[in-house]
Amino acid sequence: MKGIVFTEFLDMVEKKFGIEVVDHIINESKLQSDGVYTSVGTYDFVEMQSLLINLSKKVDIPLDGLIYNYGLYFFNVLTSVHPGIFALYKDPIELLSSIENHIHVQVRKLYPGAELPTFKIEKKNEDHLEILYFSERAMYMFAKALMEKTFEHYDQGSEIRLEKIEDDGTKVRFVISKKHGAYQQ
Ligand code: HEM
Repeated sequence: MKGIVFTEFLDMVEKKFGIEVVDHIINESKLQSDGVYTSVGTYDFVEMQSLLINLSKKVDIPLDGLIYNYGLYFFNVLTSVHPGIFALYKDPIELLSSIENHIHVQVRKLYPGAELPTFKIEKKNEDHLEILYFSERAMYMFAKALMEKTFEHYDQGSEIRLEKIEDDGTKVRFVISKKHGAYQQ
């Protein structure tokens, strides 16, 4: 997993819960890196898992909720670090259906060693998208947050439902619809 995912995660934890909580989760997790990350480095995903588990224990918020919230936060990082990629798309469904064949292809060049999910489009029209998510890391709540934020980025409302195909979340179907009418948060 790329260092930027760790550095931004620890920044979010510091902003939401304070530096003491950052120190606590780093100390509680057995980290090969000792909790020292550079944004271009690559680190074991197990480190992110233990940071998340220790945060969940410390602040008493379920893992899924923490990962979802981290996705909301990370979207803002993506739009500020890579505005050019978002400028290429005018519509959230177009963007989401291009992750596999365009966006993450670019990401692999920009971030060598990135561990990315696979997406397979099952159904697509201008208002609706059904897409399968595959990843050993089972970060489907992170994906859901990024998808919702993508619609918000284009001032559009969405309804996103997920169906776990594998119980462990390594294969998940997302059923995504545009919500017409005024954008509502
Ligand atoms: C992971 C970049 C858009 C879904 C990642 C990672 C990067 C990245 C750097 C971390 C890889 C690693 O740690 O090894 C980008 C950029 C985007 C973009 C630059 C747009 C400009 C999206 C969008 C989605 C998405 C719109 C919506 C579903 C994911 C997921 C992961 C991920 C779910 C977590 C890894 C996993 O599930 O296995 N992306 N991404 N990305 N990205 Fe993207």
